[in-house]
Amino acid sequence: MRIALFDSGYGGLTVLSHARRVLPSEEFIFYADRDHVPYGTKSVPAVRGFVRTAFRFLIEQQRADAVVVACNTATSVAVDEMRRLYDVPIIGMEPAVKKALTHDAEHRVLVTATPITVHGEKLKRLISSCDPNGLVDLLALPRLVEFAERQEFVSSAVEAYLRDAFAPYRFADYSAIVLGCTHFNYFKDTMRQLLPQNVRLVRMCALWMGMRERWRSSRGGRGCERSQSVRRPHTARSLRRGVPLCVRRSWRTWRRISRVPREWKRLFERSFHAD
Ligand code: DGL
Repeated sequence: MRIALFDSGYGGLTVLSHARRVLPSEEFIFYADRDHVPYGTKSVPAVRGFVRTAFRFLIEQQRADAVVVACNTATSVAVDEMRRLYDVPIIGMEPAVKKALTHDAEHRVLVTATPITVHGEKLKRLISSCDPNGLVDLLALPRLVEFAERQEFVSSAVEAYLRDAFAPYRFADYSAIVLGCTHFNYFKDTMRQLLPQNVRLVRMCALWMGMRERWRSSRGGRGCERSQSVRRPHTARSLRRGVPLCVRRSWRTWRRISRVPREWKRLFERSFHAD
């Protein structure tokens, strides 16, 4: 099965490294729309347009069998429309609010994401379905996306930005911070330093399991016969195999992550650590 992962930028790499461990026998392609990053501070119609273009490219040109929208912002505004348009499994990202509240239903939870996700209907619906006691607060952290795209993951500017953003919160009342943007995984170390031990960092959830079955049923029971256990343990070798990579600026040239410039390799390694 050929699985396409798509994000506005580097954030999706953190999902890709996870996906390759969960589904080591599948073929992956990765698409980063770096011409238009950041999505989270743009208008909703603009982001919907970017997502439509990405799906046309991935499904119609690249023949992806399934698409992982490795971006909470794109999921928030466009995943429903894409599911109506395309008959392949489409996996979206969802801030792990339920997971955080299941772990501790008494303390507050701070959900961090981009402005579009924070203000979106999808997140509001999710919160009202699982937070009857009003324990969830929302915080947009758009500058983390800029820092990540500049590959500035640990710096005094990142620390000052987060310190400032977290200042209004009394973290003794909180059990968790939910990382509701795939770019935010890169900042776990700095966040960890700034937060007290009682606050857990909870990353987003993606539903990988059952993807192959959904793909088969979308093809009327026909799937590829390269069947292997989906949960095979990850091996270092499978991670070293390259992933075809597409940065929007260079659509013409598909490359493999193992052969792309050192910068991308370093990022991929970092994303593996950030997962
Ligand atoms: N990584 C994306 C997300 O998970 C979007 C970041 C952006 O482009 O603003 O929301």
